[in-house]
Amino acid sequence: MEDDYKNSLPKGCKLYEYRIDSVLGAGAFGITYKALDVNLSQYVAIKEYLPNNCAFRQGQTTVVAKSNHDKETYQWGLNRFGDEGKNLAKFKHPNIVRILRYFVANDTAYLVMEYENGESLEEYLKRINRCLTENEALAIFKPILEGLQAVHEGNLLHRDIKPSNIFLRYNSSPVLIDFGAARYDLSGKSCLMSEVLTPGFAPFEQNTSDGKNQGAWSDVYAVGATLYRCIMGKRPVDANLRAAALVEDNPDPYINVKQHLAGRYSVSFLEAIDASLQFRHQKRPQTILEFQNLLCSETNNSPKITALPLMSPNTDEILDDTVINVRPVTNSVSKINSKPRSMKIKIVIVIIFLISLVITSVKVYQYIQHEKELALIAEQKSIAEKSRLKKLALEKYQKEKQILVKQQRLQILKVAEDVLINGNQKQQKIKMSQLAKLAITDADAMRLLGLGYYWGMGVAIDYELSCQWYKKSAEAGNQEAKVFYEKSTKCR
Ligand SMILES: Nc1ncnc2c1ncn2[C@@H]1O[C@H](COP(=O)(O)OP(=O)(O)O)[C@@H](O)[C@H]1O
Ligand SMILES: [Mg+2]
Repeated sequence: MEDDYKNSLPKGCKLYEYRIDSVLGAGAFGITYKALDVNLSQYVAIKEYLPNNCAFRQGQTTVVAKSNHDKETYQWGLNRFGDEGKNLAKFKHPNIVRILRYFVANDTAYLVMEYENGESLEEYLKRINRCLTENEALAIFKPILEGLQAVHEGNLLHRDIKPSNIFLRYNSSPVLIDFGAARYDLSGKSCLMSEVLTPGFAPFEQNTSDGKNQGAWSDVYAVGATLYRCIMGKRPVDANLRAAALVEDNPDPYINVKQHLAGRYSVSFLEAIDASLQFRHQKRPQTILEFQNLLCSETNNSPKITALPLMSPNTDEILDDTVINVRPVTNSVSKINSKPRSMKIKIVIVIIFLISLVITSVKVYQYIQHEKELALIAEQKSIAEKSRLKKLALEKYQKEKQILVKQQRLQILKVAEDVLINGNQKQQKIKMSQLAKLAITDADAMRLLGLGYYWGMGVAIDYELSCQWYKKSAEAGNQEAKVFYEKSTKCR
């Protein structure tokens, strides 16, 4: 763990389901840790009761009172820690830190809070290194006053309002933290109180050991002092110094913001701050509501409270977080804060762009598919056409071939007939043997063979063979052969 926090629990130390990760801060009453809830995989902030005036850590974990004399004070504070933890747990307000759990361990007690991503107002002011404008200040303080109002309604005072106890979430909504001082009154426990008060921010009545005269006006003073720091760049003069001057009949060393910052902020805003920082508590606004009305009397009429200078989130931290909490933001903050709105607009634009990209892609894809289908159909048509033409050409060729073969055959038969009638014995014999081959398929050749045997052309006269060939030729459809066969008495 960091060198600055030698008294802290070691990193990795387990407290029930929580594993200590780092120290967020250490004050008079205890140490605040960032820890991981290993069951829920989400970060929490854990405050450990360890009043450094009267207790210390023994070994790595246990907390013990410094002396027997301190034991009672330590125990008394421990009880208050528990009581006020319970009181605080009742508040479910967006601008009050949310208490999740309270438990006892290591002879001390622990308060588990929701972990907030952001930075304290003190860190923020240091980082931007300038004073806040009225709008910026109201963006922080209006919600804080609403939270404080709720705390007062619950009969609790904060007692330690200052820039380091106002936490700004990354969405810029503020949250009031560190109710440590709220746990202690002044009834003789000065050992605990001595380190509570932060010079400049605490009113004088919080210095007195009887704890009297404290009320809502005491928190009003601290809020006024915090606002003073935001617009003046430094905290107001310490109440003790003011008291000393007043006792001596010297002028109050408080620097009046109405005069000092005239023209830079609205009059009512500056007057409200001066009123809240009145040394005498009776002269201050007595309630948060009263102070709020004074502070915002001009902005109430004009609804234009604009942007708070926003923080950019520490991305490492956000990536580091397994779960990022989303908390409701008060109306005033959401009005003031323009970042979420511009983020929303950006998100909507990105979504619209993505949708139109998807639609265009789908249309392009459909168009390509359609073109492909058309090309396929055209290709199929041309293939069918080609095969049809090929078939036609083949048929034509076959017909022409048949005609040619028929013509050639007729020519052969004509020559054969001529040779049989007019040729000599030898020529007739050759033709007869040629006709015998042709006669296998040709009806005319059959008829001529019948004729050859009938007249003894190149062969011996054979009426029986002659009749057989006439008959075959007639059966194959040759009309002439049919007539010859029927007329020939030799065939009977
Ligand atoms: N709930 C929280 N979420 C995130 N950080 C926190 C939370 N509570 C406290 N812190 C951080 O721890 C620091 C110390 O806590 P705080 O409650 O103010 O104790 P103290 O001032 O007594 O040390 C704060 O300034 C803040 O930076
Ligand atoms: Mg603090």
